[in-house]
Amino acid sequence: MRNIDSKLILVGIIYFLLAMIQGQFMAITADYRYFPMHAHMGLVGGVLMILYGLIYRAYPETQQDALVKFHFWLANIGSPIFFAGIGISITGGTRNVGHAGSIIVIVALMIFALLFFRTHRSSHYR
Ligand code: HEM
Ligand code: HEM
Repeated sequence: MRNIDSKLILVGIIYFLLAMIQGQFMAITADYRYFPMHAHMGLVGGVLMILYGLIYRAYPETQQDALVKFHFWLANIGSPIFFAGIGISITGGTRNVGHAGSIIVIVALMIFALLFFRTHRSSHYR
């Protein structure tokens, strides 16, 4: 996948922006109910995506792995489902959406770990 590092950094910046804008709303309205959605959008959406991007950048050989696309899409599909699901559960709705999204986020992380360690081991430590 071309430029996966900068794509992930861009996605992270967008989530940071969304989290910060939502943070402003919480502060202005003094309605803090949605802070878990805000916290995870900033940390899992912003910090984790930018971290993924930086790691792909720091270890460019990882970008050649066949699992890259799979990791990118799982992270990008799971995250919005996770954040929306937290919002839905706070409003009193089902908790299944957030749960489903968070499982996709976990699978994405596991794929990333597999991809990272297999490419890193084969290129750096031999
Ligand atoms: C303009 C930017 C931001 C504003 C105005 C803002 C505002 C807020 C507000 C009003 C709360 C609720 C406080 C409470 O109920 O105790 C909160 C909580 C939180 N925010 Fe932000 N936030 C911003 C950016 C961020 C970013 C970028 C992150 C993550 C990288 C973040 C992470 C958190 C976390 C983890 C909590 C929960 C803290 C706790 O457990 O009490 N915030 N924020
Ligand atoms: C599959 C991934 C994850 C799941 C299912 C999950 C779930 C949860 C739950 C259920 C809470 C308690 C919410 C509440 O008090 O109402 C929580 C809180 C928190 N989590 Fe996560 N989390 C995940 C990933 C992460 C990651 C990767 C980070 C940091 C990088 C993080 C940072 C926090 C913080 C700072 C809090 C306290 C603020 C808050 O309650 O929202 N979480 N998480």
